[in-house]
Parts: sequence; C-alpha cells; structure tokens
Amino acid sequence: MIQRLLITTLLTCLATSVTASDAPSNRPAGTVNVLHWWTSPSEAAAMDILKDHYTKSGFALTDQAVAGGGGGRAMTVLKSQVISGNPPHAAQISGQGIKSWASLGLLADIDDTVNHNQWTSVLPEFVSDAIQFQGRFYGVPVGIHRSNWLWVNPGAFEDTGLAIPTSWDELIAIAPRLRQAGFIPLTHGGEAWQQAAIFESVVLSEGGADFYRQALVHHDRKALTSPTMIRVFRKLKQIASLTPDNRSKMSWDQATREIINNKAAMMLMGDWALGEFKMNGQVEGEDFYCQPAFGTDKKFIYNIDSFVLFNLRSSSDRQAQHWLTQQLMNMETQIAFNEKKGSIPARMDAAENLQGCQQKSLEDLKASIEANTLVPSIIHGMAAKESLQIPAINFVSSYMSDPTVTPEQAVKSLSAALLSP
Ligand code: GAL
Repeated sequence: MIQRLLITTLLTCLATSVTASDAPSNRPAGTVNVLHWWTSPSEAAAMDILKDHYTKSGFALTDQAVAGGGGGRAMTVLKSQVISGNPPHAAQISGQGIKSWASLGLLADIDDTVNHNQWTSVLPEFVSDAIQFQGRFYGVPVGIHRSNWLWVNPGAFEDTGLAIPTSWDELIAIAPRLRQAGFIPLTHGGEAWQQAAIFESVVLSEGGADFYRQALVHHDRKALTSPTMIRVFRKLKQIASLTPDNRSKMSWDQATREIINNKAAMMLMGDWALGEFKMNGQVEGEDFYCQPAFGTDKKFIYNIDSFVLFNLRSSSDRQAQHWLTQQLMNMETQIAFNEKKGSIPARMDAAENLQGCQQKSLEDLKASIEANTLVPSIIHGMAAKESLQIPAINFVSSYMSDPTVTPEQAVKSLSAALLSP
C-alpha cells in the first residue's frame, strides 16, 4: 500500500512539475521506444508486425519487452522509468490503466488524430469508451481478446475414448480417468493471473453477466457476499484440484505447450493462446479445438490491447508518436497483427475476413453486445483500477492454492479486497 501511495504521489508530483520530459538525446529523430510485455513466440511475432509496419516509413522503433504474462512486471518497470523522468514514447497499457495514467496528466491526448481519422466510426462503442478519459482519447487500440476460452487437446479424448466435457462437472467427473491415462485434466502455469482467469469465467457462468457486473465492476457488497458467490468459490475449489499443485509458475505459453505436446486435456486461457497454437504449426479443428469456457457460450469477457503515448517535449518525438499512432491503427497493420496475436482487430473494418476461432470470437462478440452479455475482464485491468485488480487476483490465487480456506471465508476476503477504501 505504501509503495503504491509513494508511486502515485511521485507520479502526481512528476505530472505537475514536469509535464513533459526530453527523451534521451541519443535517440535519432523519428525513433520511438515502446514498452510492452509480449515475449512469447507468437506475441513477439505479432510485435514484429507492428515494428515492420512502423519502420517501413524510415522511422526507427526500439522496444522494451518486459517478460511476465498479464503485464504486472511491465507496469513496475514503466512506473520506475516515468518516476525517473525517462518515460518511453509509448507503452502497452490496457483498460482502467489508461484512465489512471491520463488522470496524472502524463499521457499525450490523441483526440485530434482520432477525430481527424474518424476512427470512432470503425471502433465498437465499448472500445471507444475504454480508450477515453473525461471524454478525450488517450489509448490506441490494436486488438480485442476474449478471456473466457477453453482450449481442447483432442488427443486426450481420442486416447481415452472419453467424450469432450460440456461442463465443469463433467470434466471433474472424468478427471481421474484422464490422470490415469497420463493427462493433466486442466492445465495452467500457476501464475496468479492465470488462476484468477478461471475465477472470472466461473463468476460469469455461475451468475451471468448482470451478476458479474454487480460483483466485479460495481463491487456491490450484496453480490460479493451472495450465495451465488459462495457457489463460485465452491466450484473453484473443485476446479483447483484439476491442476497439479506443484506448478512451478510456468508461463501461459508453456502451459499451452502442454496441450500441444499431448500432456494436458484442456486449458482455460484467453485467445492469445490461439496465436501460440498457430505459431507452433497447430491446425485448428485437428490439433486443437477452441470452445467458450463452460457456461459462457455467447458471453464475452473482453480484454482490449492498447498503447498510450507519454507527453514528450521535442517536436521530433511528437512527430514519431503521431506516426506510431497512425501505424497502429492502420487497417493492414491490424489485419496482420491480429492474425499473429489471435485477437480480433480493434477496428471492425479489419475484421471482415477472419477464420476459425477468430471468426467464432467475432460472432460471439457481436452476439454478446446484442444480448448485453459483454463484460470487462477484471484480471486484465478492464473492470477495475490496479489497486483493486491486483489484490483480487492475488486473493483468488491464494484461495485456489490453499485447501483450508472455505468458500464462506473466501467471500469475506474477496469483499474486503474489493471494498477496501
Ligand atoms: C494480457 C494481454 C495479452 C497477452 C496476455 C498474456 O494482459 O492483453 O495481449 O499478452 O496478457 O500475457
């Protein structure tokens, strides 16, 4: 808490005393430095698309790729650079983080660029809303991920003769036979955000979209302490038993390779996993299947990938940032980037020729907008600011790793985490 307070205080001081800072003079004009957390093979390949499309104009792009799925470590590195008065030109920041950083006066407002290019005409409304703060645009959206996907290894079910389960209860029931045949019933890397991703999907499947919003967006005490939330934690305890305890904090792409290498039967993971399957030469419908997480068909937990630009003084820096914004939003760039990344392009006119799981994701996105079952991911910073997102993630992870905590106790602790002042 103290550390967070210190960082916020320092950032606020920085914002008032130095609303811009000269990027180090050793950068040639037109060079942008971009901080992000895309370090898996498919994420790096997707980032290379952004670099190639930017540098073809003659500008240079250097990037800081900070390993750590979900971006937790990247945000720590970014804060230290900003506090030392040396922000990158741009950084990958999603959801509520855009509003938090913009509120400190540290971000370049891109309102004129957005309006001049009429990008709101091709962005879904929920994306436009996510990249604004107090009615002005600060985020540059590149892709729309869905968090509530299950990935299936057909080999595990062919080898055992078991039917692919259609519910958590069915997977729990066949888990002993999957283990007997040498398969991990449900894999994940054991990192807190990966465990908590299961939580947000079960909140959606057990309570529905309205309950999800009441509990995880509005932090309604009644919802957070309801019998439904107790049911969620009861289910979560059963699901926790589907994954080996001794996970050595594997990355999400290492967990994906357990599906690819026929070691695990299923995995709940966002569709950045789709990029990883394709990067490993896996064929959809043959080597792996995608299906909405149990009980969340036509429901969509969204996670928008976006970049923000930091206020810099020199005109060459600002010119390079402007060009970067144009390239990130370029239709061809978004088509090529999302093909590698596994997400849906943020601009809908770049999403007209999708295939397979990406097309299914787009169809379910549209259906969820229609049915009002589109909800923001709390794990990926779309639903709550970092000061609530992180405690919620850490609490859920500790609950899934500690069999002594009861669902009733868990509900009290989660409420405390989300209702803290
Ligand atoms: C999310 C991010 C995705 C992917 C994932 C795994 O937060 O939006 O693009 O990087 O983490 O690291």
